[in-house]
Amino acid sequence: MIQLRNITKSFGSLQVLRGIDLDINQGEVVSIVGPSGAGKTTLLQIMGTLDQPDTGQIIIDGQDVSKLSRKKMAQFRNQRIGFVFQFHQLLPEFTALENIMIPAFIGGIGRKEAQRRATELLEFMKLTDRADHKPSELSGGEKQRVAVARALVNHPAVVLADEPSGSLDSQNKDELHRLFFDLRDRLKQTFVIVTHDESLASMTDRTIHMVDGCLTSDESSESLLSKKDVTTMDSPSLSFNTNSTQDEKQ
Ligand SMILES: Nc1ncnc2c1ncn2[C@@H]1O[C@H](COP(=O)(O)OP(=O)(O)OP(=O)(O)O)[C@@H](O)[C@H]1O
Ligand SMILES: [Mg+2]
Repeated sequence: MIQLRNITKSFGSLQVLRGIDLDINQGEVVSIVGPSGAGKTTLLQIMGTLDQPDTGQIIIDGQDVSKLSRKKMAQFRNQRIGFVFQFHQLLPEFTALENIMIPAFIGGIGRKEAQRRATELLEFMKLTDRADHKPSELSGGEKQRVAVARALVNHPAVVLADEPSGSLDSQNKDELHRLFFDLRDRLKQTFVIVTHDESLASMTDRTIHMVDGCLTSDESSESLLSKKDVTTMDSPSLSFNTNSTQDEKQ
């Protein structure tokens, strides 16, 4: 699903990534942990094509992204990669529903289909009654769930999340974390999550440790929580899945 080969990156004389090799499979929830300044965000941004490596190869969903033109890369990013940041970054003047629809519009999906997907995602997030609320009228946890819905609306190959629960209290944090595993179980959604949260990292399928621009260890957890044991939210199932929907966009 994702293959990184010998990724390096420097900012001036500071080498931030020192030859990263990493493979991530579909349906895996992978956490990246490590001290501040280790290069986690830089790696995630490069994985998400928001930043360019100095050397190396990034293959996502079979596509070597470095071979894409700027325009095609932006298109690829819109359609195949979802982002969730520490602070939701919803657009304040739009409602929850509209915020979720925006990446679909950008991807050329018609209004009706975009609205159908956004409505379905809001239902899945148990936020149907918040559809018309603007971000300032939502709680922190609700905003972050809207941000996850927005990341999912184009059925991405992977969702990249940078400290997604970093600004949440413990209850909202737990709920958001459960949501990731629920989406993995129901949609085989792949997640790469940078986190300082040890309880989240311990629940993920694999934890990648990063120190000083290098991956120091890669633990597959035969986790205490098997996929089936992870508490799933009692939500309606989504009618789409991540693999079979590309054709619908025509
Ligand atoms: N645009 C930039 N220009 C110069 N230096 C940068 C830039 N972005 C990041 N750095 C530096 O690169 C190093 C790695 O930064 P990065 O944000 O990837 O760390 P991180 O592991 O995400 O840390 P944290 O856990 O604090 O978020 C840091 O020393 C940082 O100061
Ligand atoms: Mg960071």
